[in-house]
Order: sequence, then C-alpha cells, then structure tokens
Amino acid sequence: MASIHGPITDVSEFHEVLKSSKRIMALCGAGLSAASGLGTFRGAGGMWRNHQATSLATPEAFEQDPGLVWLFYSYRRHKALQAKPNAGHYALTELSKEMPDDFITLTQNVDGLSQRAGHPREQLKLLHGSLFDIKCFDCDRIELNNYDDPFHPLLAIDSEEDSRLAPAENTEQARAAYEDPNVDTTTINPDDLPHCPDCKAGLLRPGVVWFGEDLPEDTLDEVSEWIEKDKIDLILVIGTTATVWPAAGYVSEATSKGAKVAVINMDGLDGELGAASNLRDDDFLFQGDASKILPEILKPIIGELEGVH
Ligand code: OAD
Repeated sequence: MASIHGPITDVSEFHEVLKSSKRIMALCGAGLSAASGLGTFRGAGGMWRNHQATSLATPEAFEQDPGLVWLFYSYRRHKALQAKPNAGHYALTELSKEMPDDFITLTQNVDGLSQRAGHPREQLKLLHGSLFDIKCFDCDRIELNNYDDPFHPLLAIDSEEDSRLAPAENTEQARAAYEDPNVDTTTINPDDLPHCPDCKAGLLRPGVVWFGEDLPEDTLDEVSEWIEKDKIDLILVIGTTATVWPAAGYVSEATSKGAKVAVINMDGLDGELGAASNLRDDDFLFQGDASKILPEILKPIIGELEGVH
C-alpha cells in the first residue's frame, strides 16, 4: 500500500505546483550530466584511474603533483568536449527562456554542457567555475573559455587506452589499486607544465573551485541578490548529493523563502540526498534519470522538447 506521507511522486501534482510558481531556482550537480556520459564524483562514477576524484580536487594535490592533477583535468576537459548536452540541460534552457527574470540555475558542474545547450548566461550561476577557464596558481591571471584539447601537448589524451589516463575498469578494481602503494603513478615534471605568461612563476591551473577554496564572490553576490528580491516558490535539486558547501546551503535558503523542494535524482530517500534529505509531505521526489524526468515534469511550461534525447 502506498504511504500516505510525502514526498509526493505524482507528476500531475507537481505540474499544478509548477504552473502556480512565480519564482523558481535549480541547484544542479554531476547527475545532470550523467546521461551525457560524464562521471559523477561520488558513488560508482567517482574514481579516476586509481584515485578518488575528490582527492584530486584540492590545491594540496596540485602542489604535491601538478602533473597528475592536470592529467585528471585534461581528461575531464577532453570527455566534456566529446560529450553532448542531454535533454535535461535543454529542458532547463527552455525553462530559463520562458522565465527570464524568475528562474535561475545554480550549477556545481564545470563541464560547459549547460552553456552548450544554450542556457542563457545571466541565468546560469557557475558556483564551481569551469573546466575551460585557465587560471594562474600564483597570480590573478584568468583566461576564460579556452577550449584547446589538449590544453598543452604533454596533456594530450591519445586514446582511452592511454595508460596514464584510462579509468579503472570498475570501482572495485580501482579501489584495490588505490590502496596499492606499488601502483605506478607516472606523471609529468612540473617544469614542463605550462606556466603563467604574466607572472612567469606560477603554474597554470584549471579555473575550477577546489576543496578549501572560496567560491567566486561576484557569482555568490548575484545569487544572493536574486534570492533576496522576493519569495521563492520552488527549488529543483537535480543530480546532486547536496553534500558540498556552501552550494548545498541553497536548499535551506530557498525553503526559508517559502520554496517547496523537488528532488530529481537516481537515488531515492535511502540514498545520499544531503541537504535535500529532509523532504516534507508537500515536497517532491522524482527518482530516475534527470535527462528523462526534467522534460516530463517541466512540460506545462516548456512544451515538448524537439529533436533532443
Ligand atoms: P556527486 O557525484 O556527489 O553526486 C551526483 C548525484 O547525481 C548523486 O546523487 C547520484 O545519485 C545522482 N545521479 C547520478 N546519475 C544521475 C542521473 N542520470 N540523473 C539524476 N541523478 C543522477 O556530484 P555533485 O553533487 O555534483 O566540487 O558533487 C558536488 C561537488 O563535489 C562537485 O561540484 C565537485 C565535487 O567534489 C568540487 O570539485 C569543488
């Protein structure tokens, strides 16, 4: 027998709430791009070669072995450029166009797929930067939208079989290798990596936010300004474990402004939903692939998406 308590899973009930919502926010994570073939950070997709993806996303990892960290990001740039936006990205693009002042998307994704799906830039807040921005590790230099692949000849991804880059065949194997001190971790001499053309001293690095670093201040200011303007009716929490702060904190910021929460995730309540795990009876949970669910639940506003899968 179905539980009488929420969260609600009925699409038509969601459609009614959607149609009456005046201001909507979305918080996206790696699960939005999973259907495009890009790995997530946690769970089954969270290993790269023998390394836990999150352990490479720190300034300390870069200082210790910039070649290894660059190879990880070169691989991610390459995969992101090969991938195509999916129907979930396009659905959010359409919703943005229908609600130019009243819908913003905060994304933790750095893969550029929302941008390539035509998401209006002023409605897309990149909380964690972009794989395609290049910064200096030491000075303030930043270059936006560098799509060179490879970024540097030493970082070329020749094939999926490149032994420096190939992801482990499965998570168990990767975990075993991760713990094996004898596993070869050949990388690149830091002197040979690209250095900053301005200060000459610093190494260039990907323009993403690493653990322990601040999020871009101007982006946070723009988000706060939008949130403060009025009440919020709905927050869509899409493909994220909502465990990384301050991004995860936007769920409660939205609910404190009156928002109902709608979680769209492959996992249900028995999985890790982080800041979105305390769903109330009138919140929503749509369990499954965001690329399938978003076009369906947003249909009353965006209509049928044509020509995308
Ligand atoms: P995670 O890897 O933590 O979570 C991905 C989420 O997507 C999980 O909840 C999955 O259940 C879900 N998921 C997987 N496939 C899906 C699909 N097809 N449709 C819907 N949901 C799906 O990724 P994030 O929450 O984005 O930060 O991680 C947050 C941050 O941690 C990242 O931005 C990155 C990372 O370390 C930094 O690098 C600073």
